[in-house]
Amino acid sequence: MTTTLRTPVAIVGAGPAGLLLAHLLDEAGIDSIVVDLRTQGEIESTIRAGILEQGTVELLDRLGEHSRARIVGHRHDGIELRFDGEGHRIDFPSLTGRSAWLYPQHEVLKDLIAARVAAGQDLRFGVTVTGIDESDQEHPRVLAVDADGKELVIEADFVVGADGSRSVVRPSVVGSMQGGYFREYPFAWFGILCEAPPSSNELIYSNSPDGFALISQRSETVQRMYFQCDPKLDPSSLSETEVWENIQKRVPGTDLIEGPIFQRDVLRFRSFVSHGMRKHRIAIIGDAAHTVPPTGAKGMNLAVADVALLHEALRALLQENDSRLIDTFEQRAMQRIWKAQHFSWWMTSMLHVTDDASDFDRRRQLGELRSIAQSTAGQTYLAEAYTGWPI
Ligand code: PHB
Repeated sequence: MTTTLRTPVAIVGAGPAGLLLAHLLDEAGIDSIVVDLRTQGEIESTIRAGILEQGTVELLDRLGEHSRARIVGHRHDGIELRFDGEGHRIDFPSLTGRSAWLYPQHEVLKDLIAARVAAGQDLRFGVTVTGIDESDQEHPRVLAVDADGKELVIEADFVVGADGSRSVVRPSVVGSMQGGYFREYPFAWFGILCEAPPSSNELIYSNSPDGFALISQRSETVQRMYFQCDPKLDPSSLSETEVWENIQKRVPGTDLIEGPIFQRDVLRFRSFVSHGMRKHRIAIIGDAAHTVPPTGAKGMNLAVADVALLHEALRALLQENDSRLIDTFEQRAMQRIWKAQHFSWWMTSMLHVTDDASDFDRRRQLGELRSIAQSTAGQTYLAEAYTGWPI
């Protein structure tokens, strides 16, 4: 028994990109079906990064009362760059007129799911997509198995893969899973969530001879921190005391407030850009099309920027039969993607220390950090990229 559904837009993936796209399409009067492999509980509890660009918050405002970014989230008007034992504040509003928001991705997802459920969105969890049937280029079909093990076919006018870095839709667009530009880094982040008051009101990005650390926050009672580690490190292999020693020595000059650690993970670093984002009536967006290392806090923001372009292109295509925006979608999206790739790579290489770094490399790196911290032009570049180029 196969269930066959018809919809203008079939969206694979109920992450930030897929759900926001469904929302903006609905605003324009275009129906969609969203499917995801995971359960709602898994989606809402996956710990991810927490910084939203100003443009992301403004787009989320379109969820109305459902967006809690400005209420529960915190506006951040700057970050501290710490190196050579000293902190240097980068003040966003005076440099760019913009700010960033600390509001974790899983909270954004709760808001998006609440907004879509309230609007009666066809949103299906536990659905395994097995492939895309492209035999009719004008009407691609999503082939899937639903949560009860029954076959599901979704016939659409357009299929969007917003299904993350292991995207099953990507091969339909670029021919293979690997079709893209790729870079691996020789380090990872050890991330913790701990019960403690904030050690700092703003994020601290710290470079030290022992490597990088990031002091971030979650709330008055929960903090998120990271330190540079070996990608092969087993997160359970360090005692709490060792974890705190590792973080503390990478933020010299700041006394961190310690507390019980209740979550730990090791995050791998990769940069990836897919060779393409669209073929006929199939597109991929968000992590399905690109991955950035977390140092620049660009991941979710880049997904949202893809959505901002794609929803308008789909509106023109599906409501006015005008293909001009969809024909230029990939080329326009890629401009921002490569800027964000550069920023993420640059923040990463400027702040981390590699095992093979020579004395020259180390001194050059401090020179680079100083040329940002001591120059309005340097600070402005960082602040513009961090708070996000206008969408
Ligand atoms: C986080 O709070 O999880 C976070 C913040 C900034 C980053 C990365 C992660 O650059």
